[in-house]
Parts: sequence; C-alpha cells; structure tokens
Amino acid sequence: MIIAIDGPAASGKSTIAKRLAAKLNFNYLDTGAMYRALTWKVLQEKINPYDEDRVVNLLKKIKISQNQEIGENKSLVFSLYVDGEKVDEEIRSPLVSQNVSLVSKFLKVRRAMVKVQRKISKGGNIVVEGRDIGTVVFPHADFKFFLTATLEERARRRAKELQEKGIPVDFETLKKEIVLRDKIDSSREHSPLKKAKEAIVIDSTNLTPDAVIEKITQIIKERRKEI
Ligand code: CDP
Repeated sequence: MIIAIDGPAASGKSTIAKRLAAKLNFNYLDTGAMYRALTWKVLQEKINPYDEDRVVNLLKKIKISQNQEIGENKSLVFSLYVDGEKVDEEIRSPLVSQNVSLVSKFLKVRRAMVKVQRKISKGGNIVVEGRDIGTVVFPHADFKFFLTATLEERARRRAKELQEKGIPVDFETLKKEIVLRDKIDSSREHSPLKKAKEAIVIDSTNLTPDAVIEKITQIIKERRKEI
C-alpha cells in the first residue's frame, strides 16, 4: 500500500509522514531529502545551481541512499547519505533550502529521482512525502493527502526547528523564503507542487501532530471498510 503525502514547504509533512509510518509499521520515504541532498552536493562542488548540465552530470556521479530504523519511543529515524556520508543536518541548512527549488525544477533531475523513488517503494507498504507524489510519482497511490497550514504557522514551525538546532533565524526573511520556494515549486513546468484531484486536504494550522495522525488513520480505516 502506498500513502502519498504532499504539501507546501514546512507544512509538517515529515513529522506526520514519519509518525504515520511508525504507527502503521510502514516504510518511509522523504523525497524532499533527496532533492536537498543533491543540492547540498551541488553547493559543496561549487556548481552553479542554474547550470542544468553540470547539475545533471553530478547527479549521475553520486549515490544517494537512505536508511531507516526504529528509535526511542518507537519513533522512526530516517537518515540520508551521499556517497556514504551522512548528511541529515547539512541538507536542512538555510543555504540548501534557498537553492533546492532551482535544482529540483530540472526535468532530467526529476526523472532520475522519480525512478529511484519508484524502485525504493516497489511492492511494499510505504508512506512517501513530497510535492508530486500523488500527481506524478504515484498517481495510483492508495491514499493521497495534501497537508497545509497558514504561512504564519509554517514559518513559526520552521523557525522553531532551526532555532532548536542553534541556527539563527530572522522570522520575516524565513517567511519570504518559504513564499518564494512555494512559488517556484508551484509554477515550475515539470511536476509542480499541486494537490492531486482526489487528495484529501488536511489543514494542520490548529492541529497537533497527534490530531493529524488520528485524522489520517481514521480516514484510512473508514475507506478500507468501504472497500
Ligand atoms: O521540509 P520542507 O517542506 O521545507 O521541504 P522538503 O520536503 O524537504 O523539500 C525541499 C524541496 O525539494 C522543495 O521545496 C522542492 O523544491 C523539492 N521537492 C520536489 O521538487 N519534489 C518532491 N517530491 C519533494 C521535494
């Protein structure tokens, strides 16, 4: 079974998708982390993120892999590696966030990523999060959710996350960056961020993660009864 969770920047997809996967005993895939990993490497190699050919060539040369395990309190710990190097912290840096939408709009990059995403998800039970999961990667996903929250709330959550890591945050700048990233992601030619027609929208602005999980699991239970 495939559960797709899409939505704009900092809408809580990772928190929800990870917890849901742990609860259902499913695998988990963070496709955003894959685009972030490539972007991190692009910046490391001092490649211009607008230079499609060089970005694509770099992607051909590197190996992005992932690992997941059950951590404390049955939480799911997901890690991403580039050529064997663990890059979980690095890929969440503001610099990567500022550049990732440039790299992820290239068609050849997307084609290569989607191929890997489909391979990883083949045959198993998995929760996959991203921007184009319900629309392009898995148009036949068993369940599609589109997670949203107000801009103010999304920026507040992302600011908290960064502050907890000791990264200084200017709230207004962060808000502008989120708006810009959503704009590039939604208006790009290939696989834009878009709600799949049949996706169920969940506005998490006033909901705790537990409440969102409860809502999603209820919907899944109800639908499965109907089938
Ligand atoms: O966690 P956050 O919402 O900030 O972003 P993310 O899910 O880590 O995704 C980072 C970026 O990767 C997005 O802004 C998109 O540019 C790109 N992305 C994409 O193009 N397609 C996906 N399926 C997932 C992410």
